Amino acid sequence: MPNLLSRSVFNLLFGSRRKGLESLPGPQPGILGTVGDFIGASPWDVCARYGREYGGITLIWMGPSPALVLNDPALIEQVLDSRRMEFEKGAISDQIRPSVPHDTLFIAKLNEDWAEKRRADPFEQPWYEDWLAAQVGPMQVSIAEAVESLIGQASIDLTPALRRMTADAFTVAAVGEKLPEPVFVDFMLLAQAADARIQAKLPLKFVSPPKGFEAARARFYGYFAERARAARQARNPSAVDLLSRMLREMPQLDDLALAHILGALYFGGVFSTSTTLVGAFHQLQKHAAAEERLAAEAATLAEARLTLERLRGAHWIEAIAYESMRLLPAVRIFTRTPVADAKLAGVTLPAGSLIMISNQHLHRDPSYWRDADTFDPSRWLDGGVARDPLGSGHFFPFGRGPRACVGGAFAVAVLQTALATIAARVKVHVDSTEPFEEGFFFGVVLPKGVTGKLVPRVASRPTSLVESA
Ligand code: HEM
Repeated sequence: MPNLLSRSVFNLLFGSRRKGLESLPGPQPGILGTVGDFIGASPWDVCARYGREYGGITLIWMGPSPALVLNDPALIEQVLDSRRMEFEKGAISDQIRPSVPHDTLFIAKLNEDWAEKRRADPFEQPWYEDWLAAQVGPMQVSIAEAVESLIGQASIDLTPALRRMTADAFTVAAVGEKLPEPVFVDFMLLAQAADARIQAKLPLKFVSPPKGFEAARARFYGYFAERARAARQARNPSAVDLLSRMLREMPQLDDLALAHILGALYFGGVFSTSTTLVGAFHQLQKHAAAEERLAAEAATLAEARLTLERLRGAHWIEAIAYESMRLLPAVRIFTRTPVADAKLAGVTLPAGSLIMISNQHLHRDPSYWRDADTFDPSRWLDGGVARDPLGSGHFFPFGRGPRACVGGAFAVAVLQTALATIAARVKVHVDSTEPFEEGFFFGVVLPKGVTGKLVPRVASRPTSLVESA
């Protein structure tokens, strides 16, 4: 808490701004407002603490500007869903703009062309489910090959290893091949550039791109444009990857538009999906019975060709994916900004103010969840998934409302395929079950220092892999 002098100076200079906001609880601001709370702490931990200490809405001060932290499902529903047109995404759009394509859905404005872009997104098309079903086999092969290459390594840093595995599975689904290493390196440079802007302490005009940024950007999107050009020339009517499908179903898109759509997949999904997997294996190391049940279900799945239908019938794997996203959601902070002065919870919030929404507190709210802090996939069985569906009040790892994650179903399919494939072949032995340090990268939680090894369960590869290869 700021000292008396600091609080008095704030009141002297900015006290008038508190008028009309007195009804809202929150920490006492000092001369810098309440930003000190966020120094040296993860923003989601601070937001969760506010939820515990102040309830569903907390008034904080970013210097002299009021801001809100929401932990109340009804208020979150208003901001993300029923009254969403009054609130645009926060600064993230400007922060990541140089790295992501200018026309990507992620940074479109609700009050401009967001709806049109969302409607035109390949993941919103009627053939999407059919495409998704066709990806399970190829992704399984890609993941299985990654597993084989990691077996025997003494100490694997799981975050980068599973990130690379995820990037390859995505690329197989996107263009039908694994991501060449130099293109992955370019992708990481673009992501680092965006992350430096997200985490910048200075105004963005003072944040320079890293060396080689422009060239990496040209090569990264150029790779997809080249794949598009090649696929257009040598049409393969039986190819099932997203690019081939888009060429057939969305003939109006030129190579650059296709390259932007394909390239954007990585920023939305690679870090979040691989972070979720790391969290899952870290928890499974602590919960041996859950891990054994996963191994048994994965072994059963490996007896025949893996399909989306069979994956969706694998309820324990689904429960593990959901429970990992409940306890350790990869994206824990979303921001919004009122486009005009907005009335919320009985007060008027000035246009341009920051609203922070975190799922961490609600995902672990002890008044709602039984044994809230315990990894217990069984809570999702026997109607659990229907009771707390994705995007509901206490479970929204992909956000809520019409602007929730467009890649959610794909991410779940990748998670399930990865869990089934990895667990059928190996036990992921994680070195330490102590809580890991949570960094922050590209808006996503970054598990740090989670090391382990892959211990083979059987000597031979499952027959279903050979069949689907
Ligand atoms: C476990 C994995 C993932 C998590 C936890 C996640 C989380 C989220 C969240 C919370 C949002 C909403 C943010 C907000 O409301 O401000 C979002 C939006 C979005 N996500 Fe994901 N995501 C994941 C995977 C993916 C994948 C695989 C893709 C693409 C292939 C993707 C693409 C997007 C896009 C394009 C949006 C913006 C949608 C729009 O503005 O209409 N995400 N994601």
